[in-house]
Amino acid sequence: MLNITIRNFVCPSLDYTQALQLRHRILRVPLGLEFTAEELEKDKHDIHLGLFEGKRILACITLTRCENNSMKMRQVAVEDAEQGKGLGKKLSQAGEKYALENGFEMIFCNARKTAVPFYESMGYKIVSNEFTEVNLPHYRMEKKLH
Ligand SMILES: CC(C)(COP(=O)(O)OP(=O)(O)OC[C@H]1O[C@@H](n2cnc3c(N)ncnc32)[C@H](O)[C@@H]1OP(=O)(O)O)[C@@H](O)C(=O)NCCC(=O)NCCS
Repeated sequence: MLNITIRNFVCPSLDYTQALQLRHRILRVPLGLEFTAEELEKDKHDIHLGLFEGKRILACITLTRCENNSMKMRQVAVEDAEQGKGLGKKLSQAGEKYALENGFEMIFCNARKTAVPFYESMGYKIVSNEFTEVNLPHYRMEKKLH
């Protein structure tokens, strides 16, 4: 792949619009769900990172500042045809670097059960019992940043 770049962007912006379309396609359409107004409102206060090939977004994540110097990583989505090529890991690690550089000490996520091995590959540990979100089994997973 040529010309891969990672950058952060704000909501609203053209990059955000692309990211939202990717999130919708990867994280909502397969579940028959739409984003709620409340979910979209939250995006305005968050940090968004995208992995781009040229101008096209291939992967995105959203970071939410939380209590106790922790950051929540959410809405992790990689374009279908690009999954399994290391892009999700590259972008998540850029998110961890951003969190560390901005004084956060811990990063956590609500991981879909199917994505647990992905987070484990980056050193996240399960810290909850199984629970349900968007009708799917999830676990809270955490990683200390230093
Ligand atoms: C889950 C997702 C973000 C992972 O991104 P990706 O680019 O496909 O994953 P990567 O290629 O970066 O994989 C990184 C590591 O995780 C492992 N991994 C990824 N998905 C895995 C899976 N389903 N089962 C086992 N291992 C997996 C890879 O083998 C790789 O391990 P390595 O670094 O030791 O070689 C992506 O597949 C995706 O968007 N899936 C659909 C939406 C989703 O489930 N999002 C997460 C919601 S919590």
